[in-house]
Order: sequence, then C-alpha cells, then structure tokens
Amino acid sequence: MEIKNKIKQLLKDKKTAAPRILVTGGTGYIGSHTVVELQQAGFEVFIVDNLSNSNIEVLNGIEKITGKMPVFENIDCTDYVTMDRFLSKHEGIQAIIHFAASKAVGESVEKPLLYYRNNVVSLINQLELMKVHKIKGIVFSSSCTVYGQPDVLPVDETAPRKTALSPYGNTKQICEDIITDTIRSSSELKSIILRYFNPIGAHPSAEIGELPNGVPNNLIPFVTQTAAGIREMLSVFGDDYNTPDGTCIRDYINVVDLAKAHVISVQRLLEDKSSENIEIFNLGTGRGLSVKEILTTFEKVNKVKVPHKIVPRREGDIEQVWANPTYANNVLGWEAKETVEDTLKSAWKWQKKLMKKQKNEGSCLS
Ligand code: NAD
Ligand code: WQD
Repeated sequence: MEIKNKIKQLLKDKKTAAPRILVTGGTGYIGSHTVVELQQAGFEVFIVDNLSNSNIEVLNGIEKITGKMPVFENIDCTDYVTMDRFLSKHEGIQAIIHFAASKAVGESVEKPLLYYRNNVVSLINQLELMKVHKIKGIVFSSSCTVYGQPDVLPVDETAPRKTALSPYGNTKQICEDIITDTIRSSSELKSIILRYFNPIGAHPSAEIGELPNGVPNNLIPFVTQTAAGIREMLSVFGDDYNTPDGTCIRDYINVVDLAKAHVISVQRLLEDKSSENIEIFNLGTGRGLSVKEILTTFEKVNKVKVPHKIVPRREGDIEQVWANPTYANNVLGWEAKETVEDTLKSAWKWQKKLMKKQKNEGSCLS
C-alpha cells in the first residue's frame, strides 16, 4: 500500500490525530522536500530552523504544493532552553528528523569550531530533549563522506569509515557515534542514520529547490547558474582521474526520492518495525556518473549549453564513489526511482524559476 494511504488508514483505524514530527532544518534544501512528502503522507509537521542557510519564503512554496502551512519557528537548535520550550508548547511530537547542520566543506576547514559547535551541539540537544519529552525516534542526516574513498565499489554500509578529510566530514562521524552510544545506553530511544550520496534536483513543481548561498561549491547549482549565464564558466576539477573519462564519479540522487526515504524511516521508527534500535542505510541510486556525463546529459535534456573548462583537481576530492543501496531497497522497501534526465530537468526548471523571481524583485545573485 502507498505510504500516504497507509498513514491515512492508520489514522482511521486508531481514530488518532496525525502523528507529529519535528523537522529541524526544515526550510533547507532536503528538509523542505521532506516536509512536503511528510505532509502529503498525512503527518503533522513542525519545523525549527534558524534560517542561517535558508529563506522563510520556502514555507510559501511548501504551502503551494501541499495546501498546508507547517508550524514554523525561527529557533537555533544549539539553544537548548528555547528548543525545550518549543517542545513543551507543541506536545506529542513523536519523532525528529534532524537536518539542521552547517554543510560547506571548505568553510568547515576555515571555521572548524563553528562546525563542531553547530553540528554536534545541535544533535546533543535533540538527543537530550528526546528523553525529556519522551520522543521515541530520530532520523539523522549523515553522508557518504564518512566512507572517504572506499576500497570496494559500490560501497555498502559494512564498509569501514575512513578518516574524515574535513571538520564537516568529521562532524558526521562524531554525530553517528554520539547517536550510537546514546541509543545503546537507553532502550527508550531508536534511530535511523541515513547516509546520503549526492542529492540533486528540485521538486517537479519548481516551488522549492536548492538555494545556494553565494558562489556554489556543489556541481549542479554551478552547472545551472553557468547555463543561466550567472557564472561565466564551469571549472571541471580534473580529467586525469583513474575513471573511464578521467573525471570524478558520484552517485547523484533525486532530492524527492531522498525525501521519501525519510517518510519511510519515520514510519519505521513509529511502528517499531525493526528489532534493532539503530540502523544505518545508504541512500543512493547504485549508479555512478562522471562529471562529464552529468554535463552532457544536462545539456542534452535541457537543450542548453554549459561553457566549461578543465582545471586542476580540487583538493580533497574523492575519485569515485557510488552506493550499493540494496540494504535500503530490501529493508526499507525504498528505491530511487527518478531518472537522472528528469532530475536534471527539474534542476534547470528551478533555476529558471529562481531567475524569473529575482528579475521581478530586481535583485541579482552574488
Ligand atoms: P541546507 O543548508 O539547505 O539545510 C540545513 C538547514 O538547517 C538550513 O535551513 C539552515 O538554516 C538550518 N540550520 C543550520 N544550523 C542550524 C541550527 N543550529 N539551528 C536551526 N537550524 C539550523 O542543507 P541540506 O543540503 O538540506 O542538508 C541537510 C542535512 O543533510 C545536513 O545535515 C547536511 O549535512 C546533510 N547532508 C547534505 C548533503 C548535500 O549534499 N546536500 C549530503 C549529505 C548530507
Ligand atoms: C561533485 C563532483 C567535483 C563543482 C560534497 C561534500 C560531501 C556531500 C556532498 C554533504 C566532484 C565536481 C564540482 C565544480 C566540478 N555533502 N565539481 N566543478 O564533492 O561529491 O561532495 O557534497 O555531506 O560531503 O564534500 O559534491 O557537488 O561538490 O562535486 O568539477 O564547480 O563535481 O570535483 O567530482 P562532492 P560536489
């Protein structure tokens, strides 16, 4: 049965109110797409976000898609007292999806303490408050960055984690360990750790999407901004890697597919479907694509040119990584469904929408 129907049936059977879910970082890129899927599946969503990397207008996009405005408060997750007050005010939250974190790898090298404080303290607060407010489950946003350059490809969840190459990557490993130790210490709590590969694209409605701050570090926003003429030229970081066309390989996963995995995970926690109190899943497509393949496909499906040049390798880049998502496919019953063609179309549609909006508002990107 479809998740949406399942939740509706559950509510009907139990004659209960919609399950309440707290989404931290819910106005961010992956968070906003997840809020949409949660609302469409029948959950009641509560967002806290300090808007450090997102815009309040995202809420309007969510409302346009779902017809429902989620509860939102501008709160910093590192602020225990305010978070505690929020959870007392909105009683009955049953699970947390914890997206809130800083995520720029380069910035984390320059400002490590900001990253350790924001990412680690935010998580510790959620875990402590779960006990206080009797919240059962937490879904945590981890990353394929924990695998570094895997010895075996495609990489599955049993692969060893490698020494992190940045403070950001290290916060993900530390947070995974903090969750593991906490869950082991208490039979009351459960967690699902999701290791995302490279999330890309936007909601097909183009009402929400990625909002990069300043010059994008990630490939797809740089590609869309270059195609749009905002950036002069995309730099392809190295074509001398040991890969078929010499450029790096990643597992690019559609953000809506990724969002759906969170709905399934939350449902799994609430329904106590697993005998394990902590589970880890890779979320990827199982297919690796090179930078050149992404560029060629983007140009083809969107009928637009992306001026680009080959430049030296970017320091710290992994040569190739893609997921073995079999465990998530079998255990969660989740699978990445969107094609890369449709995903790249959605990214371009979103870029065009953003430009139209910015033109109307008379602003420009930095
Ligand atoms: P994002 O920056 O778009 O979203 C994060 C949101 O959290 C933002 O809205 C930001 O304002 C908010 N936030 C940050 N610190 C906060 C705090 N202390 N209190 C309250 N709100 C705070 O990032 P995203 O791409 O949506 O990523 C979501 C999560 O997924 C992050 O934990 C990130 O590390 C992880 N992740 C992202 C990727 C990726 O490539 N996008 C890959 C793997 C893992
Ligand atoms: C993808 C590919 C680049 C930009 C980062 C984080 C990782 C995770 C996802 C959160 C690489 C190439 C890029 C450009 C290029 N985030 N590229 N020109 O590096 O796989 O991972 O985001 O957890 O932790 O490190 O993603 O989008 O930056 O790069 O050639 O202008 O595109 O070299 O091969 P990456 P990305």
